[in-house]
Amino acid sequence: MIRAASYLVVGGQFGDEGKGKIVDLVVQEGGVDVVVRYNGGANAGHTIVLDQGKYPLHLLPSGSLHPEVMNLITAGVVVDPLHLVKEIQNLQGRGFHCENLRISDRAHLVMPWHKSIDAHLGGRIGTTARGIGPCYEDRASRRGLRMGDLVDEAGLVDKDHFARRVKETVEDKNAILTKVYGLGPLDPEEILHDYFAAAELLKGQVTDTADLLEQYTREGKCVLFEGAQGALLDVDWGTYPYVTSSSVSLPGCLLGSGVFVVPELRMGVVKAYATRVGEGPFPTELGEYGAVKERDTFNPELGAPRLTEAERSAALDGDDYCMGRWLRLVGAEFGTTTGRPRRCGWLDLVAVRQAVRMSGLNALVLTKLDILDGIPKLKLAVAYERGGKQTRAFPARSHHLNEYTPVYEELPGWETLDGAGSFEELPGEAQHYIRRIEEYTGVPVRVLSVGSHRSQSLFLPDRAVTARH
Ligand code: GDP
Ligand code: IMO
Ligand code: MG
Repeated sequence: MIRAASYLVVGGQFGDEGKGKIVDLVVQEGGVDVVVRYNGGANAGHTIVLDQGKYPLHLLPSGSLHPEVMNLITAGVVVDPLHLVKEIQNLQGRGFHCENLRISDRAHLVMPWHKSIDAHLGGRIGTTARGIGPCYEDRASRRGLRMGDLVDEAGLVDKDHFARRVKETVEDKNAILTKVYGLGPLDPEEILHDYFAAAELLKGQVTDTADLLEQYTREGKCVLFEGAQGALLDVDWGTYPYVTSSSVSLPGCLLGSGVFVVPELRMGVVKAYATRVGEGPFPTELGEYGAVKERDTFNPELGAPRLTEAERSAALDGDDYCMGRWLRLVGAEFGTTTGRPRRCGWLDLVAVRQAVRMSGLNALVLTKLDILDGIPKLKLAVAYERGGKQTRAFPARSHHLNEYTPVYEELPGWETLDGAGSFEELPGEAQHYIRRIEEYTGVPVRVLSVGSHRSQSLFLPDRAVTARH
């Protein structure tokens, strides 16, 4: 059980920590009335597993599978209305009504030119090509279009105004697309047709979400703020420039939702090992990313490749690529949004500490602990070393990060977590692994996730932990 007046759920690593599962779980167990998505866009991929099947959500808040819960997409989110409509229709087709969704009139719109530019230029960073970076760029340069340009105060599609804005913008964008990038031009009429159709479906849900949120907090409703991405992908505090384009942590929550609420229980979701998708430094990575891209692709028809016995023994003999492949294949580490193989590595506590600091985390949620079953020796990175000097603060310079060698602590692994219904029933080695993470970060672990289903979760009581890193 977990109870608080309000919650924050953020990623403590490079994204994909299992936030979707945890938001859904806390909504169910923690008395949540309202879920707020405050950053990112359809680059996020949050998977929720229920008895009926798997639900990957991108733009929709992860409270969307609870019909009684209000879900807000606030001003900090960049919304692709075409994508949002598809997501809603998909859920409706599976029996969810999605009526309790409200979208901020200040949320910026992801437009087709954003997606074209992202697809063309995003390869260097390995973006999701969902138009996120170019949309946030236009927001900062004051050229963006917002939900309030598409839907007016009365909740009607603002056709004249939106058409004018699209036509003047597309002229500039087409010049850039064709002359600078050598891409084809976009047709404004086609854009208007698609966006008006989406707006007809969304118009009743566009509103001032900050006003609504203020009202909810005044009424004493329990709010959960859901972060997308993870601390090390933050535009300022992540591995810049290999980051996303939004503020993912507590400051981004305040900025994006427009209401001053400091969530009482600030939960950092941390995977029991580390993964990263896309380019950029990854100090505890196991194996070379080049080999991963070449060998570990996901074929939807054939499914994911299987770990062979030879690879398993090589991993146990210290072959880094095979150990990384073990984590990837056993952990099904393929992107929810793009299907790309995720790079895998040992848990990096230096990185997690960055997340703790950024959001003032007072609770950790440790996910995918089950994936470590059967690995006899586990490693935790507790510092980095470069040129004979050690650091425990996450370095600013990404161009040096590959020169840092992680300093590892080695801990014994366990055979299986199967059958453990509480922390005390876990194998001693698993308890020790968890306690070391708490001790290093100074933050208690409050939830353990040992499988993708809601029910595969253990709650731990609050306890004071003194940091010793
Ligand atoms: P998010 O972006 O942080 O919401 O995470 P993703 O949904 O992209 O990736 C996490 C994946 O791990 C999803 O497929 C989840 O269903 C799955 N998952 C979450 N927690 C656990 C767990 O404890 N064990 C296992 N085996 N899978 C989990
Ligand atoms: P969730 O919410 C993992 C990564 C991309 C790329 C970089 C920039 O599911 O944890 P972008 O499209 O945002 O401009 O890409 O950030 N990235 C994610 N990685 N999980 C995510 O979201 C991510 N969102 C973006 O792979 O490296
Ligand atoms: Mg994800």
